[in-house]
Amino acid sequence: MKLDLITNKRNIEKNMNPNDEFYTPIYAIKPLLKYLDNYKTIWCPFDNEDSYFVKELEKAGHKVIYTHILNGEDFFEIEPDNYDCIVSNPPYSLKNEVLNRLFKLNKPFAMLMGVVGIFESKTRFDLFKNNNFEIMYFNKRISYFRNYEEEKPMLNPPFSSVYITHNVLPKQIIFEEIEKSDK
Ligand SMILES: C[S@@+](CC[C@H](N)C(=O)[O-])C[C@H]1O[C@@H](n2cnc3c(N)ncnc32)[C@H](O)[C@@H]1O
Repeated sequence: MKLDLITNKRNIEKNMNPNDEFYTPIYAIKPLLKYLDNYKTIWCPFDNEDSYFVKELEKAGHKVIYTHILNGEDFFEIEPDNYDCIVSNPPYSLKNEVLNRLFKLNKPFAMLMGVVGIFESKTRFDLFKNNNFEIMYFNKRISYFRNYEEEKPMLNPPFSSVYITHNVLPKQIIFEEIEKSDK
């Protein structure tokens, strides 16, 4: 819990935590795509139309439902009627709450998250112990965009990111390589 407080450094302005505003590059999404072939409709619950999750999933032929708090769509209060899988990069300041809700929804999901301290929490220990989950581990750290207009992701967090998934990956741990020359 202490580590969560340090890594989240909450500084909330108008219901937004600036530490949660960083956006995922395409190269971090590509390695996941081949595991999503069975899912026709994908819900991206922390995303707007500019999100590369939305764009890449649509490009790969999925129907994408995207929702975001700034459009009045709070992940903790809504759920689309029909969808097959949930994919995104969630607000890290809410990782316990997000994982808790995802496991309760009990749909396949893939969430990109910082790996530091992911198992160092009683709440998450219990969630991981009591639910099926898998991890996708990368050969390199992912950099993030501060806004979608940037040419290259310039934000380099001091931790690696992994996908935590539920009933998506074929093994409990999968290793994938990322190509940082992609955007
Ligand atoms: C780490 S960012 C990632 C954005 C996008 N998924 C991406 O990867 O490019 C998480 C986003 O979730 C939004 N968010 C925070 N709380 C939310 C909530 N309760 N419901 C929906 N979106 C929320 C934040 O404003 C932020 O834009």
